[in-house]
Amino acid sequence: MSFFDRLVIHGLPLVPKFIVGTVAKRYVAGETVADAVATIRTLMNEGAMATVDVLGESVEDPEKAESFVRQYVSLFDTIDQERLDSNVSVKPTMLGLAIDPELCYRNIRTIVERAAASDSFVRIDMEDHTTTDDTLEIYRRIKEEIGHVGVVLQAYLHRTPDDIGGLLPLNPNIRLCKGIYREPRAIAWKAFETVRENFVYSLEKLLAGGAYVGIATHDTHLVWAGMALVDRLGLDRESYEFQMLYGVDPQLRKIIIDRGHRLRVYVPFGRDWYPYSIRRLRENPTVAKHVMRAMLGMGP
Ligand code: FDA
Repeated sequence: MSFFDRLVIHGLPLVPKFIVGTVAKRYVAGETVADAVATIRTLMNEGAMATVDVLGESVEDPEKAESFVRQYVSLFDTIDQERLDSNVSVKPTMLGLAIDPELCYRNIRTIVERAAASDSFVRIDMEDHTTTDDTLEIYRRIKEEIGHVGVVLQAYLHRTPDDIGGLLPLNPNIRLCKGIYREPRAIAWKAFETVRENFVYSLEKLLAGGAYVGIATHDTHLVWAGMALVDRLGLDRESYEFQMLYGVDPQLRKIIIDRGHRLRVYVPFGRDWYPYSIRRLRENPTVAKHVMRAMLGMGP
């Protein structure tokens, strides 16, 4: 990443919210459930599946966490009524992890119970490294008690291949991604190629070990590596899926679907769109530059 890219990325928090909103719209389905439903319908017409995320960051008030639980539970009613090909993704800190891991466990469990009633599924997103142990423990408990739940592993973490070894006996459902948080060198690989290689290594360990994997990336090299691996292992298309974020590289979505693979798109919606959008913009300095130019009153 160039010095200018770094400058742009560090400057993002100074940009007025409405300007970030204009460019960030591409990553968020909208503010309401109706917006999310409309987006999922469009994706289904393309041949994709979805996972819906109610936007929100860490909460410190148990009541607020409970209100997110209610939103997720009623989201399953909407998914059923509208016959959407969608499950949900949840963030542990939104459901009370920072208040008390036991509270978070109960909240996620309530959502998973509702998912199970519709034979659906809940993906527990992975946040920064301070949450990894608690998140994996919550996953492990609910997977054993109910099923209908999966978790995320991040290829940038040194520990990921070990975590896979520990999880494989559970017959786990894992979304594998590179990881998006800024982690210290002591625990995370920093070089682009090393993260890629750890992704491929982890993916092979998961697939060969019988896990169901959501291969979550827009990196075309890794998409290719994923396709090559499922071919080499002779896996049928029901034992894995590719996953992408809403708003990123629709052409790659089509390439994956046209090759006969299943693809799920992560569809975030809700009023708390700002922190999510800033994370997405940080990943893409080209888009972030458009935001900065808009702020400075410069043309596109
Ligand atoms: P990479 O960053 O190398 O990007 C590959 C290509 O895609 C590049 O050309 C890049 O420009 C383009 N691209 C990537 N992001 C873009 C963006 N925002 N806008 C435009 N272009 C973009 N992380 C995490 O820590 N915990 C989690 O739970 C999840 N969950 C999750 C779900 C799903 C479905 C996906 C796809 C990703 C996540 N992530 C995540 C995020 C993930 O860790 C990672 O940060 C991003 O996917 C970017 O990494 P890539 O593998 O796409 O490669």
